[in-house]
Amino acid sequence: MAKPKGPKKPRACPATCNVLLIGGGGREHALAWKLKQSPRLGKLWLTDPGNGGLARLGQPCPVKMDMSNVFQMTRWCDKNDIDLVVVGPEAPLAAGIADALRTDRRMVFGPGKDAAQLEADKAYAKQIMRQAAVPTAESKSFADAESAMQYIEWRDGPCVVKATGLAAGKGVSVCETVEEAKQAVNAMLVDQQFGDAGEKILIEEKLSGQEVSVLALVDGKTIWVLDPCQDHKPVNEGDTGPNTGGMGAYCPTPLADDALLADVERLILVPTIDAMRRSGVEYRGVLYAGLMLTPGGPKVLEFNCRFGDPECQPLMARLKGDLIEILWATCIGRLRDVEIDFDDRVACCVVMCSGGYPGPYEKGKPITGLDDAAAMSTDDEPIHLFHAGTTVNHEGTLVTHGGRVLGVTALAADLATARDRANAACEQIHFEGSHYRRDIGDRVLKQASGVSR
Ligand code: AMP
Ligand code: GLY
Repeated sequence: MAKPKGPKKPRACPATCNVLLIGGGGREHALAWKLKQSPRLGKLWLTDPGNGGLARLGQPCPVKMDMSNVFQMTRWCDKNDIDLVVVGPEAPLAAGIADALRTDRRMVFGPGKDAAQLEADKAYAKQIMRQAAVPTAESKSFADAESAMQYIEWRDGPCVVKATGLAAGKGVSVCETVEEAKQAVNAMLVDQQFGDAGEKILIEEKLSGQEVSVLALVDGKTIWVLDPCQDHKPVNEGDTGPNTGGMGAYCPTPLADDALLADVERLILVPTIDAMRRSGVEYRGVLYAGLMLTPGGPKVLEFNCRFGDPECQPLMARLKGDLIEILWATCIGRLRDVEIDFDDRVACCVVMCSGGYPGPYEKGKPITGLDDAAAMSTDDEPIHLFHAGTTVNHEGTLVTHGGRVLGVTALAADLATARDRANAACEQIHFEGSHYRRDIGDRVLKQASGVSR
């Protein structure tokens, strides 16, 4: 009698691994830089080779990859023996790229469409958190402006208005007054400023405290919490001005010590993954919890289903070991077999932006001084110049091509030195309109030196 077949053994990480990297920002440059260090890397293919830094690390896919053309992408991956697909941004994950490209032989790092709803649909995330009793701001969802306005008047206080869909980090308004909240509701539900992403909104309690980004690798069963980072969203120093995708981040942050991280794992990450599993949704990939450290403990502001940008830059700068092995182990449910370790040094990433960002900005400004900045790098205190929005124009000049242009990332024994070195490297780099925050990490540095703010 034939032996009953057990579950199929997952494919082991190949000695030579051809990788397709989806995405073309600072996060992807950092991922590519780390992938390049893996002795297992075969070919590194890029869907977005426009980025001047990323372009040097891999080969552009010969045809423009249309993320919605699953047939084209699958055929191309088959033909080019792609073993591992690494998905940087959230949009292709939310559209289901991981489900479409994954086979028994080809791994895709990033959750499937259902699981990616944790980022793509904030109302779904709230529902999961409610089921799992995960600490988060109280909230209510609305699809019609009139009920939303009534609720705002009834609440009569500060609140946060959020588009529930993907809005590139811009669909959140933190409102101090009823009037501001009404304007935000109007912008989303009436003027439809965020299109479909703002068809439904959340109105939630405004929390206060320091923000921390806790990212964890999740392989379906095992969770590996990475060193915590702190991002800086507001555009101006002193955390003022409109929110951006992130003006700089450092890692590790002393704000989340081991005890706090254990609480985050126990009270937030594990119950969230379990609640999803109970509803038939398995999470594999990186789970990013954006947290507010409130007097009542850490509370979830948002979940993301991918590496943070810029958090990925300091994380990759500090990550030891083979990224391909780590990502592969996550994909096949064997995270428990790999060791994940970080450099003891602190990494600080300062993001240099185009004039006008996060509002409208011009592109095509020549960038100079990168060699001088790179020359500051030493073995003990390296400096990495991750490109976010750059491209090489038809004259061969490196020019700006996005709002966030460069992620200047320095490592040093302590945060103050890493930050000073990143700032000093930024001073070497010039492009018209350039601006960056010189105060990344200031809150904890001032706390440590006893200065209150
Ligand atoms: P999100 O995209 O949901 O993380 O929101 C972007 C930013 O808005 C966060 O990094 C916070 O600075 C702020 N924010 C979001 N939700 C809240 C909240 N409930 N209370 C206070 N600030 C918030
Ligand atoms: N740095 C914030 C984010 O990646 O969403």
